[in-house]
Amino acid sequence: MAQKQLGVLVHGAGWVSGEHIKAFQNNPHARVVAISSRKMESVRRRAEEAGLQRIGMYTDFERALRHEGVDIVSVCTPQHLHAENTIKAAEADKHIVIEKPIANSLEEMRAMRDAVRKAGVKTVVSFVLRWNPLFQTLKSLIADDAFGKIYYVETDYQSNIASWWSGYEDARKKATGISAMLVGGCHALDAARWFAGRKRESAARVAEVFAYRGGWRKGAEREYNYLTGTWSDGKPPLEYEGLEVLILKFDNGVIGKVSVNLDCIMPYTFPIEIFGDEGSVKNNRIWSHKFPGQKEWIEVPAILPDSSDVTHHPFQAQMDHFINCILNDRESHCNLEDAIHTHEVVFAAQKCYETRQPVTLPLM
Ligand SMILES: NC(=O)c1ccc[n+]([C@@H]2O[C@H](COP(=O)([O-])OP(=O)(O)OC[C@H]3O[C@@H](n4cnc5c(N)ncnc54)[C@H](OP(=O)(O)O)[C@@H]3O)[C@@H](O)[C@H]2O)c1
Repeated sequence: MAQKQLGVLVHGAGWVSGEHIKAFQNNPHARVVAISSRKMESVRRRAEEAGLQRIGMYTDFERALRHEGVDIVSVCTPQHLHAENTIKAAEADKHIVIEKPIANSLEEMRAMRDAVRKAGVKTVVSFVLRWNPLFQTLKSLIADDAFGKIYYVETDYQSNIASWWSGYEDARKKATGISAMLVGGCHALDAARWFAGRKRESAARVAEVFAYRGGWRKGAEREYNYLTGTWSDGKPPLEYEGLEVLILKFDNGVIGKVSVNLDCIMPYTFPIEIFGDEGSVKNNRIWSHKFPGQKEWIEVPAILPDSSDVTHHPFQAQMDHFINCILNDRESHCNLEDAIHTHEVVFAAQKCYETRQPVTLPLM
Protein backbone atom coordinates (compact mmCIF):
# COMPACT_ATOMS: atom_id res chain seq x y z
CA MET A 1 0.00 0.00 0.00
CA ALA A 2 1.32 3.48 -0.86
CA GLN A 3 2.49 5.47 2.14
CA LYS A 4 0.34 8.46 3.12
CA GLN A 5 1.72 11.80 1.97
CA LEU A 6 2.41 14.24 4.79
CA GLY A 7 0.29 17.38 4.46
CA VAL A 8 2.10 20.72 4.82
CA LEU A 9 0.78 24.13 5.89
CA VAL A 10 3.15 26.96 4.93
CA HIS A 11 2.63 30.00 7.16
CA GLY A 12 3.94 33.46 6.12
CA ALA A 13 3.75 33.75 2.32
CA GLY A 14 6.90 35.82 1.70
CA TRP A 15 10.29 35.33 0.04
CA VAL A 16 11.54 32.18 1.74
CA SER A 17 8.14 30.44 1.70
CA GLY A 18 8.33 29.95 -2.08
CA GLU A 19 11.39 27.73 -1.62
CA HIS A 20 9.77 25.77 1.22
CA ILE A 21 6.74 25.15 -0.99
CA LYS A 22 8.89 23.99 -3.94
CA ALA A 23 10.91 21.66 -1.72
CA PHE A 24 7.83 20.01 -0.20
CA GLN A 25 6.14 19.71 -3.59
CA ASN A 26 9.24 17.93 -4.95
CA ASN A 27 9.26 15.36 -2.16
CA PRO A 28 7.15 12.31 -3.03
CA HIS A 29 6.12 11.87 0.63
CA ALA A 30 4.75 15.39 1.11
CA ARG A 31 2.32 17.82 -0.44
CA VAL A 32 1.32 21.36 0.40
CA VAL A 33 -2.32 21.34 1.53
CA ALA A 34 -2.64 24.91 2.82
CA ILE A 35 -0.98 28.33 2.87
CA SER A 36 -1.68 31.08 5.38
CA SER A 37 -0.38 34.62 5.76
CA ARG A 38 -1.35 38.10 6.88
CA LYS A 39 -2.69 39.06 3.43
CA MET A 40 -4.85 36.86 1.23
CA GLU A 41 -3.22 38.34 -1.89
CA SER A 42 0.18 36.97 -0.75
CA VAL A 43 -1.36 33.54 -0.13
CA ARG A 44 -2.95 33.54 -3.60
CA ARG A 45 0.26 34.71 -5.28
CA ARG A 46 2.32 31.92 -3.69
CA ALA A 47 -0.31 29.29 -4.57
CA GLU A 48 -0.51 30.49 -8.18
CA GLU A 49 3.26 30.58 -8.61
CA ALA A 50 3.49 27.00 -7.36
CA GLY A 51 0.55 25.86 -9.51
CA LEU A 52 -1.35 24.80 -6.38
CA GLN A 53 -5.10 24.50 -6.77
CA ARG A 54 -7.71 23.28 -4.33
CA ILE A 55 -5.58 24.01 -1.26
CA GLY A 56 -6.69 25.76 1.91
CA MET A 57 -5.97 29.51 1.91
CA TYR A 58 -6.14 31.43 5.17
CA THR A 59 -5.35 34.71 6.87
CA ASP A 60 -6.15 33.18 10.28
CA PHE A 61 -3.37 30.86 11.49
CA GLU A 62 -5.56 29.01 14.01
CA ARG A 63 -8.11 28.19 11.33
CA ALA A 64 -5.32 27.10 9.01
CA LEU A 65 -4.01 24.74 11.70
CA ARG A 66 -7.42 23.06 11.72
CA HIS A 67 -7.34 22.49 7.93
CA GLU A 68 -7.80 18.81 7.22
CA GLY A 69 -4.67 16.78 6.60
CA VAL A 70 -2.04 19.16 8.01
CA ASP A 71 0.86 17.15 9.51
CA ILE A 72 3.68 19.70 9.16
CA VAL A 73 3.71 23.47 9.64
CA SER A 74 6.44 25.53 8.00
CA VAL A 75 6.89 28.77 9.94
CA CYS A 76 8.07 31.41 7.43
CA THR A 77 6.85 34.59 9.15
CA PRO A 78 9.20 37.34 10.44
CA GLN A 79 11.33 36.25 13.41
CA HIS A 80 9.34 38.06 16.14
CA LEU A 81 6.39 35.76 15.33
CA HIS A 82 8.31 32.46 15.29
CA ALA A 83 7.86 31.64 18.98
CA GLU A 84 4.12 32.26 19.01
CA ASN A 85 3.63 30.38 15.70
CA THR A 86 5.76 27.43 16.84
CA ILE A 87 3.93 27.11 20.16
CA LYS A 88 0.53 27.15 18.44
CA ALA A 89 1.67 24.56 15.89
CA ALA A 90 3.05 22.30 18.65
CA GLU A 91 -0.18 22.62 20.65
CA ALA A 92 -2.00 21.49 17.51
CA ASP A 93 0.32 18.42 17.39
CA LYS A 94 2.05 19.37 14.14
CA HIS A 95 5.66 18.69 13.17
CA ILE A 96 7.37 22.03 12.58
CA VAL A 97 9.93 23.62 10.26
CA ILE A 98 11.10 26.80 11.97
CA GLU A 99 12.85 29.51 10.01
CA LYS A 100 15.86 31.12 11.64
CA PRO A 101 16.15 33.02 13.90
CA ILE A 102 13.87 30.87 16.02
CA ALA A 103 13.06 33.49 18.67
CA ASN A 104 13.83 36.94 20.01
CA SER A 105 14.58 36.06 23.66
CA LEU A 106 15.54 33.29 26.08
CA GLU A 107 12.00 33.40 27.51
CA GLU A 108 10.51 32.73 24.09
CA MET A 109 12.90 29.82 23.55
CA ARG A 110 11.96 28.30 26.92
CA ALA A 111 8.27 28.44 26.03
CA MET A 112 8.91 26.92 22.59
CA ARG A 113 11.00 24.12 24.08
CA ASP A 114 8.31 23.33 26.65
CA ALA A 115 5.56 23.24 24.03
CA VAL A 116 7.52 21.03 21.63
CA ARG A 117 8.62 18.63 24.41
CA LYS A 118 5.03 18.38 25.67
CA ALA A 119 3.65 17.66 22.20
CA GLY A 120 6.46 15.26 21.28
CA VAL A 121 6.50 16.59 17.70
CA LYS A 122 9.53 16.70 15.41
CA THR A 123 11.24 19.98 14.48
CA VAL A 124 13.89 21.20 12.07
CA VAL A 125 15.36 24.70 12.06
CA SER A 126 16.38 26.27 8.75
CA PHE A 127 20.12 26.38 9.31
CA VAL A 128 19.96 25.37 5.69
CA LEU A 129 23.73 25.70 5.13
CA ARG A 130 24.21 22.38 6.90
CA TRP A 131 22.93 20.94 3.59
CA ASN A 132 25.12 23.13 1.35
CA PRO A 133 27.34 20.79 -0.74
CA LEU A 134 30.62 22.39 0.45
CA PHE A 135 29.44 22.15 4.07
CA GLN A 136 28.56 18.50 3.55
CA THR A 137 31.96 17.77 2.00
CA LEU A 138 33.86 19.56 4.78
CA LYS A 139 31.82 17.91 7.55
CA SER A 140 32.39 14.50 6.02
CA LEU A 141 36.15 15.17 5.72
CA ILE A 142 36.30 16.34 9.37
CA ALA A 143 34.54 13.15 10.50
CA ASP A 144 36.95 11.11 8.34
CA ASP A 145 39.95 12.70 10.12
CA ALA A 146 41.17 14.56 7.01
CA PHE A 147 42.41 17.48 9.11
CA GLY A 148 43.25 15.62 12.33
CA LYS A 149 41.97 17.06 15.59
CA ILE A 150 40.21 20.38 14.93
CA TYR A 151 41.44 23.16 17.25
CA TYR A 152 40.23 26.39 15.58
CA VAL A 153 37.29 27.42 13.36
CA GLU A 154 36.41 30.78 11.87
CA THR A 155 33.15 31.61 10.06
CA ASP A 156 31.76 34.95 8.94
CA TYR A 157 28.35 36.06 7.67
CA GLN A 158 29.08 39.07 5.45
CA SER A 159 25.92 40.40 3.87
CA ASN A 160 24.81 43.98 3.27
CA ILE A 161 21.16 43.26 4.01
CA ALA A 162 19.15 46.39 3.26
CA SER A 163 15.90 47.56 1.67
CA TRP A 164 16.29 45.09 -1.23
CA TRP A 165 15.15 42.38 1.24
CA SER A 166 11.38 42.07 1.74
CA GLY A 167 11.95 41.19 5.41
CA TYR A 168 14.18 44.22 6.09
CA GLU A 169 11.59 46.50 7.68
CA ASP A 170 11.05 44.12 10.63
CA ALA A 171 14.62 42.82 10.74
CA ARG A 172 16.35 46.25 10.85
CA LYS A 173 14.48 47.34 14.01
CA LYS A 174 15.85 46.70 17.49
CA ALA A 175 12.42 45.65 18.81
CA THR A 176 11.76 42.99 16.15
CA GLY A 177 15.24 42.15 14.79
CA ILE A 178 17.20 42.47 18.10
CA SER A 179 20.75 42.22 16.68
CA ALA A 180 22.79 41.56 13.55
CA MET A 181 24.03 38.28 15.02
CA LEU A 182 20.44 37.14 15.52
CA VAL A 183 19.11 38.29 12.13
CA GLY A 184 21.87 36.84 9.92
CA GLY A 185 24.95 35.96 11.96
CA CYS A 186 23.23 32.97 13.53
CA HIS A 187 24.05 31.12 10.26
CA ALA A 188 27.77 31.69 10.91
CA LEU A 189 27.43 30.66 14.56
CA ASP A 190 25.67 27.48 13.56
CA ALA A 191 28.39 26.81 10.97
CA ALA A 192 31.14 27.26 13.58
CA ARG A 193 29.35 24.82 15.90
CA TRP A 194 28.91 22.37 13.01
CA PHE A 195 32.60 22.41 11.96
CA ALA A 196 33.85 22.34 15.56
CA GLY A 197 31.84 19.15 16.12
CA ARG A 198 34.05 16.22 15.23
CA LYS A 199 31.30 13.67 14.59
CA ARG A 200 29.31 13.40 11.34
CA GLU A 201 25.94 14.55 12.70
CA SER A 202 26.82 16.67 15.68
CA ALA A 203 27.49 20.34 16.39
CA ALA A 204 29.85 21.31 19.22
CA ARG A 205 28.51 23.22 22.20
CA VAL A 206 29.86 26.59 23.25
CA ALA A 207 31.06 26.88 26.85
CA GLU A 208 32.12 30.56 26.92
CA VAL A 209 31.67 33.69 24.80
CA PHE A 210 33.30 37.09 24.58
CA ALA A 211 32.05 39.68 22.09
CA TYR A 212 32.57 43.15 20.64
CA ARG A 213 30.21 45.13 18.41
CA GLY A 214 30.78 48.13 16.16
CA GLY A 215 30.80 49.08 12.48
CA TRP A 216 29.43 52.25 10.89
CA ARG A 217 25.88 51.54 9.76
CA LYS A 218 23.78 51.85 12.94
CA GLY A 219 21.53 54.90 12.49
CA ALA A 220 22.93 55.70 9.02
CA GLU A 221 20.33 56.67 6.42
CA ARG A 222 22.75 56.14 3.54
CA GLU A 223 22.36 52.69 2.09
CA TYR A 224 24.29 50.62 -0.44
CA ASN A 225 22.64 48.17 -2.78
CA TYR A 226 25.23 45.62 -3.79
CA LEU A 227 22.89 44.15 -6.41
CA THR A 228 22.95 47.44 -8.39
CA GLY A 229 26.16 48.94 -6.98
CA THR A 230 24.32 52.17 -6.10
CA TRP A 231 23.96 54.34 -2.97
CA SER A 232 20.76 56.05 -1.84
CA ASP A 233 19.97 58.52 0.94
CA GLY A 234 17.00 58.87 3.30
CA LYS A 235 16.64 55.13 3.88
CA PRO A 236 15.36 53.57 7.13
CA PRO A 237 18.47 52.79 9.20
CA LEU A 238 19.66 49.70 11.04
CA GLU A 239 18.78 50.25 14.72
CA TYR A 240 21.63 48.08 16.04
CA GLU A 241 25.32 47.62 15.25
CA GLY A 242 25.90 45.86 11.93
CA LEU A 243 29.20 44.33 13.05
CA GLU A 244 29.60 41.79 15.86
CA VAL A 245 32.68 39.68 16.53
CA LEU A 246 32.45 36.74 18.94
CA ILE A 247 35.27 34.67 20.41
CA LEU A 248 34.06 31.24 21.46
CA LYS A 249 35.45 28.49 23.64
CA PHE A 250 33.78 25.18 22.81
CA ASP A 251 33.35 22.49 25.45
CA ASN A 252 35.56 20.13 23.39
CA GLY A 253 38.49 22.57 23.54
CA VAL A 254 38.06 24.09 20.05
CA ILE A 255 38.39 27.90 19.84
CA GLY A 256 36.16 29.80 17.42
CA LYS A 257 35.85 33.27 15.97
CA VAL A 258 32.51 34.19 14.41
CA SER A 259 31.48 37.50 12.93
CA VAL A 260 28.44 39.07 11.35
CA ASN A 261 29.09 42.05 9.11
CA LEU A 262 26.02 43.77 7.68
CA ASP A 263 28.11 46.92 7.07
CA CYS A 264 30.28 45.45 4.31
CA ILE A 265 30.28 47.15 0.89
CA MET A 266 30.50 44.09 -1.30
CA PRO A 267 28.44 41.12 -2.44
CA TYR A 268 27.49 38.38 0.06
CA THR A 269 30.32 36.11 1.19
CA PHE A 270 30.57 33.39 3.83
CA PRO A 271 34.26 32.70 4.53
CA ILE A 272 35.17 29.46 6.30
CA GLU A 273 38.49 28.56 7.91
CA ILE A 274 39.08 25.32 9.78
CA PHE A 275 42.37 24.28 11.35
CA GLY A 276 43.27 20.80 12.61
CA ASP A 277 46.54 19.31 13.82
CA GLU A 278 46.87 17.45 10.48
CA GLY A 279 45.30 19.78 7.92
CA SER A 280 43.45 23.00 7.15
CA VAL A 281 40.53 24.44 5.18
CA LYS A 282 40.21 27.84 3.56
CA ASN A 283 36.75 27.94 1.97
CA ASN A 284 36.84 25.19 -0.67
CA ARG A 285 40.65 24.78 -0.55
CA ILE A 286 42.00 21.99 1.58
CA TRP A 287 45.37 20.85 2.89
CA SER A 288 45.37 17.36 4.37
CA HIS A 289 47.68 14.68 5.73
CA LYS A 290 45.61 12.28 3.62
CA PHE A 291 47.52 13.60 0.58
CA PRO A 292 51.16 13.12 1.63
CA GLY A 293 52.54 14.36 -1.69
CA GLN A 294 50.45 17.55 -1.69
CA LYS A 295 52.29 20.58 -3.12
CA GLU A 296 49.36 22.94 -3.87
CA TRP A 297 45.99 23.57 -2.22
CA ILE A 298 43.35 21.13 -3.44
CA GLU A 299 40.21 22.92 -4.56
CA VAL A 300 36.89 21.16 -3.97
CA PRO A 301 34.61 21.92 -6.95
CA ALA A 302 31.46 22.13 -4.80
CA ILE A 303 28.64 24.67 -4.68
CA LEU A 304 29.82 27.32 -2.22
CA PRO A 305 27.70 29.21 0.33
CA ASP A 306 28.24 32.36 -1.74
CA SER A 307 24.76 33.77 -2.33
CA SER A 308 22.07 35.28 -0.13
CA ASP A 309 19.41 34.39 -2.71
CA VAL A 310 16.97 31.85 -1.28
CA THR A 311 16.75 30.09 -4.66
CA HIS A 312 20.43 29.17 -4.16
CA HIS A 313 19.86 27.65 -0.71
CA PRO A 314 19.58 23.84 -0.36
CA PHE A 315 16.03 23.80 1.07
CA GLN A 316 15.27 20.64 -0.94
CA ALA A 317 17.89 18.65 0.97
CA GLN A 318 16.73 20.13 4.30
CA MET A 319 13.09 19.24 3.73
CA ASP A 320 13.96 15.77 2.36
CA HIS A 321 15.95 15.21 5.57
CA PHE A 322 13.05 16.37 7.73
CA ILE A 323 10.47 14.19 5.95
CA ASN A 324 12.86 11.29 6.43
CA CYS A 325 13.15 12.06 10.16
CA ILE A 326 9.35 12.12 10.53
CA LEU A 327 8.78 8.91 8.56
CA ASN A 328 11.51 7.07 10.48
CA ASP A 329 10.72 8.58 13.89
CA ARG A 330 14.21 10.12 14.16
CA GLU A 331 15.27 13.46 15.64
CA SER A 332 17.01 15.90 13.30
CA HIS A 333 20.55 16.98 14.21
CA CYS A 334 19.21 20.48 13.50
CA ASN A 335 16.13 20.37 15.71
CA LEU A 336 14.76 23.06 18.01
CA GLU A 337 16.84 21.94 21.03
CA ASP A 338 20.05 22.13 19.00
CA ALA A 339 19.13 25.53 17.52
CA ILE A 340 18.33 26.87 20.99
CA HIS A 341 21.99 26.40 21.85
CA THR A 342 23.11 28.41 18.79
CA HIS A 343 20.70 31.21 19.74
CA GLU A 344 21.85 31.13 23.37
CA VAL A 345 25.27 32.22 22.09
CA VAL A 346 23.64 35.23 20.39
CA PHE A 347 22.00 36.25 23.67
CA ALA A 348 25.24 35.59 25.59
CA ALA A 349 26.93 38.15 23.30
CA GLN A 350 24.20 40.67 24.17
CA LYS A 351 24.90 40.06 27.86
CA CYS A 352 28.60 40.56 27.21
CA TYR A 353 27.99 44.04 25.74
CA GLU A 354 26.42 45.01 29.09
CA THR A 355 28.84 43.33 31.49
CA ARG A 356 32.05 43.47 29.39
CA GLN A 357 32.85 40.08 30.87
CA PRO A 358 33.03 36.67 29.23
CA VAL A 359 29.70 34.84 29.53
CA THR A 360 29.50 31.17 30.50
CA LEU A 361 26.90 28.92 28.89
CA PRO A 362 24.33 27.36 29.10
CA LEU A 363 22.00 30.25 29.90
CA MET A 364 18.86 28.14 30.10
N1 LIG B 1 17.14 30.00 6.18
C1 LIG B 1 17.48 30.97 5.38
O1 LIG B 1 18.52 30.96 4.77
C2 LIG B 1 16.55 32.14 5.22
C3 LIG B 1 16.54 32.89 4.05
C4 LIG B 1 15.63 33.95 3.97
C5 LIG B 1 14.79 34.26 5.04
N2 LIG B 1 14.88 33.51 6.16
C6 LIG B 1 14.03 33.79 7.33
O2 LIG B 1 12.68 33.52 7.01
C7 LIG B 1 11.83 34.42 7.70
C8 LIG B 1 10.98 35.14 6.66
O3 LIG B 1 11.82 35.85 5.80
P1 LIG B 1 11.39 36.30 4.32
O4 LIG B 1 12.64 36.71 3.65
O5 LIG B 1 10.54 35.29 3.68
O6 LIG B 1 10.53 37.61 4.69
P2 LIG B 1 9.25 38.19 3.98
O7 LIG B 1 9.41 38.14 2.51
O8 LIG B 1 8.98 39.49 4.61
O9 LIG B 1 8.11 37.15 4.35
C9 LIG B 1 7.49 37.08 5.58
C10 LIG B 1 5.99 36.95 5.35
O10 LIG B 1 5.37 36.83 6.64
C11 LIG B 1 4.09 37.39 6.54
N3 LIG B 1 3.64 37.99 7.79
C12 LIG B 1 4.06 39.11 8.38
N4 LIG B 1 3.38 39.33 9.52
C13 LIG B 1 2.47 38.33 9.61
C14 LIG B 1 1.47 38.00 10.55
N5 LIG B 1 1.26 38.76 11.63
N6 LIG B 1 0.75 36.88 10.33
C15 LIG B 1 0.96 36.11 9.25
N7 LIG B 1 1.89 36.38 8.32
C16 LIG B 1 2.65 37.47 8.52
C17 LIG B 1 4.13 38.46 5.46
O11 LIG B 1 2.99 38.15 4.73
P3 LIG B 1 2.01 39.11 3.95
O12 LIG B 1 2.67 39.23 2.60
O13 LIG B 1 0.78 38.30 3.95
O14 LIG B 1 1.90 40.41 4.65
C18 LIG B 1 5.41 38.19 4.69
O15 LIG B 1 5.16 37.93 3.33
C19 LIG B 1 12.75 35.36 8.49
O16 LIG B 1 12.87 34.91 9.79
C20 LIG B 1 14.08 35.24 7.77
O17 LIG B 1 15.20 35.48 8.58
C21 LIG B 1 15.72 32.47 6.27
